[in-house]
Amino acid sequence: MSKWNKDSWRDYNILQQPVYPDTSKLRECEDKLSKLPPLVFAGEVRNLKDELAKVTQGHGFLLQGGDCAESFANFNAVNIRDMFKIILQMAIVLTFAGGCPVVKVGRVAGQFAKPRSSDYEEINGVKLPSYRGDIINGFEFNESARVPDPKRMIDAYYQSASTLNLLRAFSRGGLANLHEVHRWNLGFVKRSELDEKFEKLASELTNALKFMEACGVTTSNTPTLSETKLYTSHEALLLPYEEALTRVDSLSGDWYDCSAHMLWIGERTRGVDDAHVHFLSGVKNPIGCKIGPNATADDVIKLANKLNPNNENGRLNIIIRMGADKIESRLPNILKDIKSEGLNILWSIDPMHGNTVKASNGYKTREFDNVLREVKSFFDIHHACGTIPGGVHLEMTGQDVTECTGGAFKVTQEALASRYETQCDPRLNADQALELAFLIADEVKKSRS
Ligand code: PEP
Ligand code: CO
Repeated sequence: MSKWNKDSWRDYNILQQPVYPDTSKLRECEDKLSKLPPLVFAGEVRNLKDELAKVTQGHGFLLQGGDCAESFANFNAVNIRDMFKIILQMAIVLTFAGGCPVVKVGRVAGQFAKPRSSDYEEINGVKLPSYRGDIINGFEFNESARVPDPKRMIDAYYQSASTLNLLRAFSRGGLANLHEVHRWNLGFVKRSELDEKFEKLASELTNALKFMEACGVTTSNTPTLSETKLYTSHEALLLPYEEALTRVDSLSGDWYDCSAHMLWIGERTRGVDDAHVHFLSGVKNPIGCKIGPNATADDVIKLANKLNPNNENGRLNIIIRMGADKIESRLPNILKDIKSEGLNILWSIDPMHGNTVKASNGYKTREFDNVLREVKSFFDIHHACGTIPGGVHLEMTGQDVTECTGGAFKVTQEALASRYETQCDPRLNADQALELAFLIADEVKKSRS
């Protein structure tokens, strides 16, 4: 096999890729993308790695979340603002109630490509290629929409650039100012109970800020009170796109995938000798890798050796997604073996992808109690093993959708139809996400005391 280069993945076995019918158009688009400016900068990526290194050592918590799949049709400022607000709300709950610094990473500004369990989708006897995310083909169920079109990579790039521009403005332009915390509530009519809980926390925070101001700690001398950092991430699935945005950093001479600060490898493409692991082994970004219920300790050791050969803190995040029923029997052995190997890994929990079910009315959904149960098990297992529960990885939205059942406002299976808006997996709505943040804050507090 060839030495690593940004295109050496092409010599490896690869899964979950589209077959573009027009290869010259593909090459044109790749060429165009490779000349467009990077979306993120190596210095920012290094900052994230430093922050994740602290999390790996128990000094912080990783909050990663966003859409299952971003879409071209739902792209607007309100959706981005509300996602930003719910992440801020959750982070403040975790920081203030959980007593722990939070590293915020969105599944945003590039989360477009989707691995699929099946290559085809059948509706009423009509069989078409599966939808693979807006960066590849169209969601509409017709033959022409489902043809992979490389120009979609260019559209996804510009949408990501525009999303990032807004996120950077929200981060530094005043919205993230801690004095504005009361305004982060999303104001859905039925949220009263949760609102009260959040408002109480916000008032305590405001009092703490007044006290600190009296002691001389103000927004003018302490920028972290008025600004925040939201890093971006996505599954690095579509390698022609990732390759085109991979650049050499002029300061360090190292390769960085400049499509996002952090990239992850999905459960379906984590073969240690396959193209995705090979590609990401050569860039310096923090890397996530999802592992499902069938992963073994040996798999994780091999992945760690390949993706993090120097055992650096902050480089590798293993994202557990085993499902509430399986995590207890599968995760403890993995943690024990990794601990005895002395591998530095940031462990986080994705309580979404192992808990997907089909409702009786056909909707793909997740029950909030199962999401919560897997999160709780994750913390309990780490406590028992003496390892560090470092973060969560969620599919969620700032909107009032009905995609996951349960939660304090009890979304029923019948209610799923009313606002089921995802183009892929069901997301926690803003209520469910905030409710979950309070519950995670309790666990974080326990694990730190
Ligand atoms: C996802 O994160 O949307 C996803 C497909 O996850 P997984 O690889 O864990 O199935
Ligand atoms: Co998903």
